[in-house]
Amino acid sequence: MDVKKLVSEMTLEEKAGMCSGKDFWHLKGVERLGIPEVMVSDGPHGLRKQDSEGDHLGVNDSIVAVCFPAGCATASSFDRELIKEMGETIGDECQAEDLSVVLGPAVNIKRSPLCGRNFEYLSEDPYLAGEMAASYINGVQSKKVGVSIKHFALNDQEHERMSGSSEADERTMREIYFPAFETAVKKADPWTFMCSYNRINGTYASENEWLLTKVLRDEWGFKGYVMSDWGAVNDRVKGVAAGLDLEMPASGEYNDRLIVEAVKNGTLPEEKLNKTVERILNIVFEYVENKKGGTFDRAKDHARAAKIAENCMVLLKNDEKILPLKKGEKIAFIGEFAEKPRFQGGGSSHINSYKVEDVLSCSKDKAEIFYAKGFPADKDEEDEKACKEALDAAKKADKVVIFAGLPDSFESEGYDRQHMRLPECQNKLISKIVKENPNVVVVLHNGSPVEMPWVDEVKGILDAYLSGEAVGIALSRILFGEANPSGHLAESFPLRLEDTPCYIDFPGKRGKVYYNEGVFVGYRYYDTKKMKVLFPFGHGLSYTTFKIDNLKIERSGKKDTDKIKVSVDVTNTGDTAGKEVVQLYVSDKTGTELRPAKELKGFDKVELKPGEKKTVTMELDYRSFAYYSTELNDWFAPGGKYEILVGDSSENIAVCEEIELEATKKLPFVITQTTIFGELQAYPELTEIVNTKLMPYLAVFGAGKEEETDAASEAISDEMTQAMIRYMPLRSLRSFGNISSDQVQALVDELNNALKK
Ligand code: BGC
Repeated sequence: MDVKKLVSEMTLEEKAGMCSGKDFWHLKGVERLGIPEVMVSDGPHGLRKQDSEGDHLGVNDSIVAVCFPAGCATASSFDRELIKEMGETIGDECQAEDLSVVLGPAVNIKRSPLCGRNFEYLSEDPYLAGEMAASYINGVQSKKVGVSIKHFALNDQEHERMSGSSEADERTMREIYFPAFETAVKKADPWTFMCSYNRINGTYASENEWLLTKVLRDEWGFKGYVMSDWGAVNDRVKGVAAGLDLEMPASGEYNDRLIVEAVKNGTLPEEKLNKTVERILNIVFEYVENKKGGTFDRAKDHARAAKIAENCMVLLKNDEKILPLKKGEKIAFIGEFAEKPRFQGGGSSHINSYKVEDVLSCSKDKAEIFYAKGFPADKDEEDEKACKEALDAAKKADKVVIFAGLPDSFESEGYDRQHMRLPECQNKLISKIVKENPNVVVVLHNGSPVEMPWVDEVKGILDAYLSGEAVGIALSRILFGEANPSGHLAESFPLRLEDTPCYIDFPGKRGKVYYNEGVFVGYRYYDTKKMKVLFPFGHGLSYTTFKIDNLKIERSGKKDTDKIKVSVDVTNTGDTAGKEVVQLYVSDKTGTELRPAKELKGFDKVELKPGEKKTVTMELDYRSFAYYSTELNDWFAPGGKYEILVGDSSENIAVCEEIELEATKKLPFVITQTTIFGELQAYPELTEIVNTKLMPYLAVFGAGKEEETDAASEAISDEMTQAMIRYMPLRSLRSFGNISSDQVQALVDELNNALKK
């Protein structure tokens, strides 16, 4: 389709009309020009296609669809291929259901465990979130269906999400909150972006030209269209000018009229509107011209959902190898989640699930199971009779599995969690049960971290997260050892809410939330502060054991632009087949800028039979070493030493080696009278001028003196003099060297000239 030509044939009113939805889920068409209406639908972990009346919070019914594991679970798989396969499946479903775009993945950073929507988001780590998002997108779009990566950007809480301003500095945005989106653009070319509701440093994302045009399009090269989150438009004309193409849902045509007026009165150049419409139509026709149809095979996709779930669950603790359960053991299943699992979150991602499998029904033929409800799955309510039944069941069992978790009302789109605890009734019952039976395993159904006051009293903890409708079969297979757990945490589990880096600032007050912790989010903070956590980022156990060794670093040269290949050997040292997640971290030892102790820059998941060994190779590039410099307005990798660390969690590093990097870029350095002496030290080309021309003026401090009296050296040692001079601005030469400002300036000019040589 020649979209440019088509746009040239459209009236101003038709063009403005294309810039907002027809209704809740459709884009408008123009019949006379053969532009069809196309549909979009939530996302991201299954289809929420609303055939009849639309709403964006999942209140009204949608078609029956397969509910896959939510983002909190899929990210824990650390498995790019698996997530791509999930994307392909969802892409096929979209083709069958005639959906041009699925609204997801949702990649906002898990800044606080309290964000109500963390269950949908991927990680606290931008590298992991970006890699998983790109895989999902490549999967969906291989089926010629688009995604809408969301919510761009800094929508990391639900509190005041539609109006509040996220106040963050540029380095923090570029290093933590943008890379998942940036990686998606560079590695997967998403068809559409969804801008967030919130403001960013005061400007609504929906009318933020810096965000939607400069960063997204000019810098990253995004080619598709940007749609608003549902109801995120504030000033429609400003939005078009800033790069917001499509307003969703319908605007009652008021905003379309404002666009027409703005073009007519010259406030909005028609050329901008034409580009907007072109971007929308390019995607519409990309879908329409490649439409394949097909059937939505729910049974087949359900089986895929089960396989994915199995690869996401995280075994957090397994003392005395309490898991797997043995067939033939007497086992108590306690907690209503065993028969009514929580497997997805509330709000716009809510799926009308095809077939929910619970662990109780899926396990009944595998062992002698006594089930007692113990506590309800949907509220925090103690029931004495139910507790007693649970204790009785625990007493007569060899092992007890308690199915605990957060009720739906505790975490959802639309509001944040109030605290990080499980319902009191669950914590109390767990503490009582461990007194009756020492062999206790807790299975968690949660979208984000919870405190575990009983962590030392139970032998096993398995985090099922929100694993989708096939949760029961996946859980049963893992509990009974038919599948080996291989998920690793995509977020840190802090000991207490008060330990979290944004504890003081979250969720903000009076319409503003300050991101004062900067780049120190999640493990970047706990690690740097050497703080104890409940379970660290990247942690996950298996029924087998692995050894990681033989670190090799291959470099084509020493420059920061040369590619580096890092390889390790991974061996399955146990007697069960399993999968290990190998994680590669980089630690900046150059001391140039404040940076986290280490950051994830590579990972891979490998499957190994007992005794088998495989070599895993990962690549590092310039960005793996760089931080975002606001002096350069670019990424900058300082020259010097870095540590390359490989392990199976952010805490458990198996091998490490130091490398030296030669920098190809320099930070801009302009010397003024305010520059301190210490800053000059990093530049060998200045040493001579400093020693011969500047230091003599500081003789009053003993600088450069050959000999001194005992009393003088007692009062101030050489070391002390050096340290003091380090912080003196060059301007001090006026006061202590007795020279004029012009003379100091002449020295400053000489230094600057030496830098240029
Ligand atoms: C959510 C989006 C969702 C949209 C449509 C909004 O409230 O923030 O994630 O895609 O509704 O349902």
